[in-house]
Amino acid sequence: MRPAQVGASILTADLLHLAEQIELAETAGVDFFHLDVMDGMFVPNITFGPVMIETVRRATTLPIDVHLMIEAPERYLEAFIEAGASTLTLHVEATSHLHSALQTLKRHEVRAGITLNPATPLVLLEEVLPMADQLLVMSVNPGFGGQSFIPGALNKIERAHAMIELVNPRCNLEVDGGIKASNIGRIRSAGADMFVVGSGVFNDEATVNDSVAELRGALDRAATSGNRVHHT
Ligand code: DX5
Ligand code: ZN
Repeated sequence: MRPAQVGASILTADLLHLAEQIELAETAGVDFFHLDVMDGMFVPNITFGPVMIETVRRATTLPIDVHLMIEAPERYLEAFIEAGASTLTLHVEATSHLHSALQTLKRHEVRAGITLNPATPLVLLEEVLPMADQLLVMSVNPGFGGQSFIPGALNKIERAHAMIELVNPRCNLEVDGGIKASNIGRIRSAGADMFVVGSGVFNDEATVNDSVAELRGALDRAATSGNRVHHT
């Protein structure tokens, strides 16, 4: 199984002190940053655009994973690539031209991600999964940080994992929404290898360092118990 990567979503970070927050997360050992772009159309909330990606790019050398929650994302691919995105993830519900959008990403040598809302079935990925570098399974309805993990997502992650193994084993399986130290182990066991964590990293209850350490601890425990099951 691929190594587990933890990504920090800056949605619930203190944006007034963004550089410090990024540094804290980096020191705590996150593997990538996840930036949620929302347009007030595809999702009810509005966040930020390429300028924010460019700003974060100047603050870190870690990969920047951009989650585009915008209608017709094909209009803005070049802008986000130029801003320094490492990965662009597109919702299958947001465009009628997913295939050509993925071709554009390949041409620019940026990592290509595809994702679906909780209600959207995996079968919609059939034609495009072979082109993807990562598949993101949403475990909340996109739009806001701090929501609860939808329990049914675990089964979807298992099925997505099986699909990836079958048609595109080099594709990463990412999960986003409601991930905490209390459930990350189960999500890992279901087959995910990239974990986006927002309020579980940036919150008022614990330091960023302690939060990331707790997430890593839970992942390690999942790995150990997974091995035990494997060897018995
Ligand atoms: C939700 C976003 C998530 C969000 C996750 O629409 O896509 O990336 O930041 O935040 P938590 O971990 O708080 O659910
Ligand atoms: Zn996201």
